[in-house]
Amino acid sequence: MFMLAKLNSMVLTGVDAVPVRVEIDVQGGLPTVEIVGLASTSVKEARERVRSAIKNTGFEFPNRRIVINLSPADMKKEGTHFDLPIALGILLASGQIETTLTDFCYMAGELSLYGDLQKIAGVLPMALELANFDHPIDFIIPSENAGEAALVEEVRTFTVSSLKEAVDFMTSSGELPMVEVKNMKQISQRSKIFDFADVRGQDIAKRALQIAAAGHHNVLLIGPPGSGKTMLARRIPGILPEMTRSEILETTRIYSVSNLLNEERPLIQDRPFRAPHKNASAVSIIGGGKDPRPGEISLAHNGVLFMDELPEFNREVLESLRQPLEDKTVTIARALATYTYPCNFSLVAAMNPCPCGYFGSDTECLCTPTQIQKYLNRISGPLLDRMDMHIEIPRVKYEELQDKAAGEDSSSMRERVNRAQEIQGIRFKDLDINFNAQMRPGEIRRYCQLDENSQQIFKKAFNTLKMSARAYDRILKVARSIADLENSDTITLNHLSEALRYRSLDRKYWNM
Ligand SMILES: Nc1ncnc2c1ncn2[C@@H]1O[C@H](COP(=O)(O)OP(=O)(O)OP(=O)(O)O)[C@@H](O)[C@H]1O
Ligand SMILES: [Mg+2]
Ligand SMILES: [Zn+2]
Repeated sequence: MFMLAKLNSMVLTGVDAVPVRVEIDVQGGLPTVEIVGLASTSVKEARERVRSAIKNTGFEFPNRRIVINLSPADMKKEGTHFDLPIALGILLASGQIETTLTDFCYMAGELSLYGDLQKIAGVLPMALELANFDHPIDFIIPSENAGEAALVEEVRTFTVSSLKEAVDFMTSSGELPMVEVKNMKQISQRSKIFDFADVRGQDIAKRALQIAAAGHHNVLLIGPPGSGKTMLARRIPGILPEMTRSEILETTRIYSVSNLLNEERPLIQDRPFRAPHKNASAVSIIGGGKDPRPGEISLAHNGVLFMDELPEFNREVLESLRQPLEDKTVTIARALATYTYPCNFSLVAAMNPCPCGYFGSDTECLCTPTQIQKYLNRISGPLLDRMDMHIEIPRVKYEELQDKAAGEDSSSMRERVNRAQEIQGIRFKDLDINFNAQMRPGEIRRYCQLDENSQQIFKKAFNTLKMSARAYDRILKVARSIADLENSDTITLNHLSEALRYRSLDRKYWNM
């Protein structure tokens, strides 16, 4: 009567998934339920959910010793989605149901105490992994996760809303709705874009942000309260090129394992804009935690990470941003597993020029030079060194706010950004980089040559402002992006002078 049941499920490893075998053995002996095979606490909690779900579905929970083995045994298992295979496995192993569907059928789902299926994390990476198999696979998932699986045409995906429905399907006494395969256009649910046309005045800031978008430069916005820093930053994703199919899948995987997708938004098709609060913890920004999850830097993958009030962020957070900024991935190591999440984002930071906020503006600043220096020192060194551009955002004048004429809109800005990125694509086609901001010293020497006259001017500015070698490289890279926006092969004195203007921290305060 009692036997061994084997069912297939998946486990997440970062933004990938791998198959897991769920084996259930119902034996004689004292009634206990044991889960073995490196199961985390979240997996072990399945015991209580499954017990109630089975009873509330009208079956019996066997009063026996039940051993549940998740294999391969040397891989850490996280998540609540083993509930469904465990529950079905117990019903099979205790002889309450019979099935012929097991070998090519994979399943994942969390159960409520009443036996309803709940939305789970990671359906997209699971389906994408199953699509690689060399034989066709049936995949059973909770109804609420349907949208994520719709893109994966290689897998037949069925949705289930209760344990009862899953039992009927397994025992061939009922059908399940199959997920209709769709392409990205059909799933399209674009959110409203924030348009630069809403911004009055601020022509210099808009120009600078367009340069930053074109060359993928990290930027620091500096201005008094209310000058529109947040408003400007929010509009940057809208002038970046449309996401490619592979970018959409990469970013959506991250939202899938973070359980942030839903029926209204099953795909991330617009470049993300993430704005973590200054008090956010290192774990929430970088990623990690007990059951590791991607942080804000990964949720911003292929989009923008906006850090408003940069000097107010915890020092530990600022320090731990350095590595991911360099590597474009973040690795979280645990005793028995390592999780890697991509985090290729553009960093846009904002700050006031001083603690009171009004240094250099038309309102009187009440800070002492020491206070200002201390404030700036908080972001000094490594993080500031990674900012290609420092852009001053003055407060808009009354007349500019009154102006009825719309400023330049995002779609025409985006067109120019697109063209400048095409030029970079051709320039770097044989290299492992895509954007001017990623150039290393060798590439800078090769692609950022200056004529004699520009060299003289640069030398003078460099010495007067006591610039660092890092600043030198950054100015050349920004000058390259400015030239690309004009479709100019050579960097002219105009391009260089404009790039020098976006280094206000080198100019103004550093030598105060
Ligand atoms: N150039 C502008 N054109 C139109 N509206 C503007 C402009 N600048 C600011 N505003 C208005 O002022 C509001 C405040 O701007 P925002 O919050 O972006 O300023 P901020 O520089 O981020 O300020 P804080 O330092 O207080 O964070 C905006 O929501 C917007 O309504
Ligand atoms: Mg703001
Ligand atoms: Zn001040």
